Amino acid sequence: MSPVSSLTTAVHQRLADALAAARPEAADADPLLRPSDRADLQANGMLALAKRLKGNPRELAGQVVERVNNGDVIEEIEVSGPGFLNITLTDRAIISTLAARAADERLGVPLVEHPRTMIVEYSQPNVAKEMHVGHLRSTVIGDALARILGFRGEHVIRRNHVGDWGTQFGMLIQYLLEHPHELDHEGGEGGDAAMSRLNHLYRASRQVFDADPEFKERARARVVELQSGDPETLALWQRIVDESKIYFNAIYRRMDVLLTDDDLVGESAYNDDLATLAEELESSGVAVRSAGALCVFFDDVRGADGEQVPLIVRKADGGFGYAATDLAAVRQRVGTLGAETMLYVVDARQALHFRMVFETAGRAGWLPEGVAHHLPFGTVLGKDGRPFKTRSGEVVRLASLLDEAVERAAEVVREKDRDDRLSAAEVAERAEQVGIGAVKYADLSTSRSRDYVFDLDRMVSLSGDTSVYLQYAYARIQSILRRAGDTARASAHPELPLAPAERALGLHLDSFAETLDAVAETYEPHKLAGYLYTLATQYSAFYENCPVLAAEDPATVANRLFLCELTARTLRLGMSLLGIHTPERL
Ligand code: ARG
Repeated sequence: MSPVSSLTTAVHQRLADALAAARPEAADADPLLRPSDRADLQANGMLALAKRLKGNPRELAGQVVERVNNGDVIEEIEVSGPGFLNITLTDRAIISTLAARAADERLGVPLVEHPRTMIVEYSQPNVAKEMHVGHLRSTVIGDALARILGFRGEHVIRRNHVGDWGTQFGMLIQYLLEHPHELDHEGGEGGDAAMSRLNHLYRASRQVFDADPEFKERARARVVELQSGDPETLALWQRIVDESKIYFNAIYRRMDVLLTDDDLVGESAYNDDLATLAEELESSGVAVRSAGALCVFFDDVRGADGEQVPLIVRKADGGFGYAATDLAAVRQRVGTLGAETMLYVVDARQALHFRMVFETAGRAGWLPEGVAHHLPFGTVLGKDGRPFKTRSGEVVRLASLLDEAVERAAEVVREKDRDDRLSAAEVAERAEQVGIGAVKYADLSTSRSRDYVFDLDRMVSLSGDTSVYLQYAYARIQSILRRAGDTARASAHPELPLAPAERALGLHLDSFAETLDAVAETYEPHKLAGYLYTLATQYSAFYENCPVLAAEDPATVANRLFLCELTARTLRLGMSLLGIHTPERL
């Protein structure tokens, strides 16, 4: 199926041709088409162009109108104001374009012409630690980007850069060595059981570590064993990692994110590269020794005292840290995996770290300009406007946050199911889809860089910009389509005149592909969320104003069912690209 050219593209082409005919010297000018309230589209480009050509914008606009080929697409084009063009499309063009979209499984969304190898790094929890609210945004945003870019045909490589290396493992491993039954699977096999074993291991070893100086010494020595690859130490480390994977995977399955063990390449994976990496940086002069450590300096990175603050590649004690593994990851992703674009979905507070890592990798010749992007995001806040904490002031566990959302969603689902048609199992399944969807959507509908308040009442509300609202819109359309059954079938009728609400809905349906372009250009999934919300509100305006099954004649019924069906498919596909389910019934 060939990609469908949108109505905007078709009009753009006609205006560009008319412009080139009117003023050959302006053949490259952009007519700047935008949706408009007055007509269907407005072109604002004549103003800037007239200025450039030192002409009168209204006159130029008039010349374009004279030369434009209306074809089947443009119903009316007129000059307005200081030199805008107002354009009204034909009803025929709207429905025929949508019919072409409906005939394509991808709804006419083209595959990119030149797929790039793109790394999307997200989630990145730490081994042996519980995931908390801070991991929510990275996981949800990263997953939506991976889905959207993948759908466009990019070659997406997901990376979960887990924190699975470092000095804290000395303590855990040493304790495990001295208490070999600590991780025995008596408490069960699930993610919760795994996490409670790890929590126990962590607390127990911490207690001994703090109380017993000799244990502390043994724990320190254990770190050295780990870093030098002692097999027994590595085996115990692996057990801790495996236990964490059980927990991570349980969370990922529940949240319905794409991450699997194949995507998990943690800090430890780069261990063997670090010594050579440091040597290369030193011999090329990118890094220098300072107080025993191997450091990279930046003119514009200074502390409060005006002294430069370096990126530390190797500590004075010979150990490697967070910066070294990130440098190795960059080198491998570009050099070995052939990454052409790398997205790091990480908290805004790490902005300086990434600036220094990318700059260093650039100086070393490992990272071409424009490949790596840190995509920072804002903080999840409590209702008091401060970073979200539990009542006792602790960080909020991701699992309990999901539990709470699902509980609230179950109430909503039960309330809606007044005549008790759903079984307990059905309520539970829908509550998961609604509750998890609510949490994801609240996150994805906020622009990435902004903070937002975690407010479950608002998130599961049936009205307003929520996933539940969109899920209900979808389920309601499905119920209409079921009611139509075999008596009336959806089919496009381009010969019919359209009501204003049908035109508005139709034009918005046609801009789905362009919305995905915009998301891919800026890496901002909230643009897709906003598009879907507008789609649902336009659909409800259509539904209020245009009877579907009770329309005056069979052709109109069929054409309106066609609009219903395409709306449902667009909602479903759009939501799935955000990683959110659309149940058939709610
Ligand atoms: N594990 C880290 C943390 O929890 C985040 C890792 C971010 N990614 C990276 N390539 N440094 O803070």
